[in-house]
Amino acid sequence: MTAMIYPTTNPEATEVMVVARGEGPYIYDETGKQYLEGMAGLWCTSLGYGNEEIIETARRQMEELSFSHMFGGKTHPSAIELADKLAAMTPIDDARVFLGASGSDANDTLVKLIRYHAVATGQPQRVKIIAREKGYHGVTLASAALTGLPPNHAHFQLPFDALGVLRTGAPHYYRCAEEGESEADFVARRANELEQLILAEGPETIAAMIAEPVNGAGGVIIPPAGYFEAIQAVLDRYGILLWDDEVICGFGRLGAAFGAEKLNMKPKMMACAKALTSAYVPLSAAIVSGDIADAIAGPAAEMGVFGHGYTYSGHPLGCAVASKVLDIYVRDGLFEHAAVIGDYMATGLSKFADHPLVGEVSAMGMLGALELVADKNTKRPFDGMKVGQFCAKAAETNGLIIRPLGGNRVALCPPLIIQKAHVDEIMDKLGRALDSTLDFVTTEGLAA
Ligand SMILES: Cc1ncc(COP(=O)(O)O)c(C=O)c1O
Repeated sequence: MTAMIYPTTNPEATEVMVVARGEGPYIYDETGKQYLEGMAGLWCTSLGYGNEEIIETARRQMEELSFSHMFGGKTHPSAIELADKLAAMTPIDDARVFLGASGSDANDTLVKLIRYHAVATGQPQRVKIIAREKGYHGVTLASAALTGLPPNHAHFQLPFDALGVLRTGAPHYYRCAEEGESEADFVARRANELEQLILAEGPETIAAMIAEPVNGAGGVIIPPAGYFEAIQAVLDRYGILLWDDEVICGFGRLGAAFGAEKLNMKPKMMACAKALTSAYVPLSAAIVSGDIADAIAGPAAEMGVFGHGYTYSGHPLGCAVASKVLDIYVRDGLFEHAAVIGDYMATGLSKFADHPLVGEVSAMGMLGALELVADKNTKRPFDGMKVGQFCAKAAETNGLIIRPLGGNRVALCPPLIIQKAHVDEIMDKLGRALDSTLDFVTTEGLAA
């Protein structure tokens, strides 16, 4: 046991696995055992490990300018280049970019921008934010309050009321649909619930609704067809902005540059991190449309400084690496590659639909999950997380990293650089893990 307190870990669990090195889509533990990184770390290492071009870019940036801050209008060439590149790439009109170091801090920045904007535009009451059950937006006090997962709330006394967090239902048809409800009816119900919530709270008090295109940590939940169109129509009726959390879905994960494009979202604000640098170094971006940025620039003379910024906002290393990573994505056609390999992965995953343990198969682009259930016919879930955790451990024994999520779902999110042969390897190892899990469930008497 070392001196470390581990993040998102049972405080009793300590050194469970020591990852010693990585190469391409593989990592190796301290004994030299190889694992296909089927989760791209924490949904982030899209270009895999050991990319020489990125390493060289980082080395040059550190030689030239290892640090410069961005307070008071100070800046540097790598930050300027990145902001312009990102702004040109994102599906947000006349996008403006604020840089940080994590997905959580990007979402916190957007909370603050919403509040500053509300005052600047003479509607200081317009600060409430609608967030969804099963959404994940980070773990700082504000972003955790937006997150809709009970384990991220428990014991923390989060400031839900102070932040004006309003909660609406998850777009999870498999788990949340009523008996006999069609997908279209489910979507209509979710849109109607949203509208009732807005009317009950007062539309003039609500600034934005935050949503991931596909919920990641909440279970890889793919919204039914027409979901965002229906939600967007309600928001537009009341002048409420759509805030798109692209921390997982951004940069090709769903087989398009951004999840917003894939799912027909029309956001005014966006949070990015993770694959922005392919996780070679920490960097995040909080992005807003030009009209929002312009609206706060005018009154700023009276309002005073936008008193929010991090020492590492626009760190030169992160900016240089992100700029290079974005170039590689485009040059190597990785978003298109992700669409092709993603279809192949979805076909592989769909074959597990007949497995006795699998209740739902979710797949879009290079993101996927299986929900393991005690009874396929009734959808009866297993208690706790034991079965999903067993399955992930069995996959690890076979040399594959997958991630157990709440509701006994196991997730897949491999690096975008993998080829079909890697997908075959994933399916083989995952299939064997599912069979071991079935043996475990049978032996323990957990199934129907
Ligand atoms: C959709 C989403 N938003 C925000 C975050 C928070 O990012 P970070 O862990 O970098 O703070 C995550 C992290 O997994 C995420 O998946």
